[in-house]
Order: sequence, then structure tokens, then C-alpha cells
Amino acid sequence: MTRIVLLPGDGIGPEVTREARRVLERAAEVHGIALTFEEALIGGASIDAHGTPLQDEVVDLCRDSAAVLLGAVGGPKWDDMSVDLRPEKGLLSIRKELGLFANLRPASIFPALVHASTLRPEVVEGIDMLVVRELTGGLYFGEPRGIERNGPERVGVNSMVYSDTEIARIARIGFESAMRRRKQLCHMHKANVLEVSQLWVEVVEEVAKDYPEVELDHQLVDSGAMFLVKEPRRFDVIVTTNMFGDIISDEAAMVTGSLGMLPSASLGEGGVGLYEPVHGSAPDIAGTDQANPLAAILSAAMLLEHSLDAPAAAATVRDAVASVLEAGHRSGDLVLAGEDRPVTGCAAMGDLVLAEVSR
Ligand code: IPM
Ligand code: MG
Repeated sequence: MTRIVLLPGDGIGPEVTREARRVLERAAEVHGIALTFEEALIGGASIDAHGTPLQDEVVDLCRDSAAVLLGAVGGPKWDDMSVDLRPEKGLLSIRKELGLFANLRPASIFPALVHASTLRPEVVEGIDMLVVRELTGGLYFGEPRGIERNGPERVGVNSMVYSDTEIARIARIGFESAMRRRKQLCHMHKANVLEVSQLWVEVVEEVAKDYPEVELDHQLVDSGAMFLVKEPRRFDVIVTTNMFGDIISDEAAMVTGSLGMLPSASLGEGGVGLYEPVHGSAPDIAGTDQANPLAAILSAAMLLEHSLDAPAAAATVRDAVASVLEAGHRSGDLVLAGEDRPVTGCAAMGDLVLAEVSR
């Protein structure tokens, strides 16, 4: 039996994870894969129960499993806590502890959603990109960090630190991904200001020698952000740092219609993978059955593909999502302001996908 750990977390995390689990279980069954599930706490839920956003036992449980499916962490209840004790720390720790340095965030547009984007249909039609975000280094983890006193002033410090080894391994993931796609790689950086970005440019160039077929381009991250809304179709694979990738991936998600649609996979050197929707815990709608479970469900599809080596089962899930959208069903986030159409709740959306997977 293959063990999957569920970490539903906070806010809408539990609602969307419940739907993703049901779909994952059914798709696996249809394709003859036997799964067992274990559920554990992370983030604010873990702080409330155990006083820490991530227990060591939970890390061990994840290490001993095939894959982890996570919901979301965080919420206003824990907003006043120091950075080191907040729910988000649980997420950062599990990524670091499992060595998940490569975060894959595919942003493509379902044909049925071309009109759900805030951008014009002719701009978004056919978008199909992959953001490869470095996940265990850079500004999120660099030292020194903290808030210090300097005489009468307080000074806040964070450091963007990358070794050439860290850059080369994520660059390689970018090139390998490009080789399986349209063979275009865009490295986003800020080398006109930051030394660390200059090193990224150098190392990405070195790695590029092993991938002569890939068309490589270095793009300043500010103009990259601009081109993402101007000509999103020009992008195939984007590789970038942890911090830039966090920002760029939300933008990439939004041009495809909604943050509620974007899945992600976090992978390391072999071993266990972690799958989570890119959206956050959306505390304002938590517990109201308004969340869009499709990003979580599509994350389960990535789990089937990358951790269980079951691309056919993954395709079943993706096709089911496409059919449900094709049939006109929309969660609230996919309905544009002023548009008059019925809204499908979280559980009902899960039911619809489940029915398609079972056909
Ligand atoms: C994401 C999120 C996280 C991040 C937060 C919740 C710590 O924004 O996965 O993109 O910044 O990585
Ligand atoms: Mg983010």
C-alpha cells in the first residue's frame, strides 16, 4: 500500500483537501492503485493543539510516506506571532526538512475559462507556462536575518543567499522541464542591482551548455512581470529564486483566470514530494463552502504523475476538471464581477469532479 499524508492546515485548507482526497482516492482506484491516508496537523491548527507549527513526528511521518498533500496555512488568529512561530513557519520547515528545493507551478488556461480572466480572451488563449521556483534558499532562509536595535533605531534584515550548487540544481530542473515542453527557458533575475542575481546569470549560462537545444533568455524580473500580463503566451518555462517565484507565480495564476486554479508540486532529490494549491488559506471564506477545490484537486493530479508514476490517472483527473468547467460549473472565484451565473460550492464541485472521474 502506498501511503499519502494529508496536511489540511488552516482556513479553507481542510475543505479543499477533503475534496482533493476524495478525487485522488477514486482516480487511484479506477487505475488500480492502492492508497492509504494518514492525516496530521500543520500551521495554526498545530500551534493550537501542540504549541508549534510543525511537530518532529509529523516530519517523520511525511518522510516515511510516498507523498504529502497539503491544504494551506495561516490566518488572522496567528498574525501577531513572531515570524519564527507563525503557521507559515510550519510550511517553510516541511519544505526545508524534506529537501524540496524545486517548486513546479504550471499555469495554463482551461479553454472553458478563457472568458474568466480579467485579461482579454485573445491575450490569454493558449497560455501554457511552468514557473520553476527555487524553494529552500534565498531570501526566505538566508542569514543574517532579524530585527535589531541600532542605537535609537530598529533595523530589519533579510539576506538573499545562494551558492552556485543551489543555483545549478534548480537551473537543471528548469532546463529538463523545458526539454519536455517547448524548449524555451526564461531566467528571471535582478542582475542590474543584485550580486546574487549576477551569480545566477553566470551559473544558469554554465548549465545551459548541457542543453544546447533549449532557447535561454535572461529577463529582469520587473519587466518579466510586465510581459506576463502583456504577452503571457510568450512564456514556456520560467526559472527563478524563491522570493521572485512567490510573486511571479501568483501573477501567472491570475492571468489564467484565478488563483483558485493553480496547483503545485515541490520535489527534491528523489524521495517524497509535497503537493499543494498555490492559493492561501482565505480565512474570509473558510468554513462557508465557497472555496474552489480545483487547485487542490489538480495538485492531487500532480501527485499521481510525479510521486506515483501514474500519468494516466493524472490525466483522468485533469480531464474530469476540464469537463466540469466545460459543462459550465463555476466556483465564486471564477465568476467575474457583474456576471450573472450560478455559483458552485466547494463540496458540490468535488462531487462533480468525482462523478467525472468515475465515468
Ligand atoms: C506560497 C505561499 C507561501 C510562500 C507562504 C504561505 C509562506 O505564499 O506557497 O506561495 O511564501 O512560499
Ligand atoms: Mg505565494
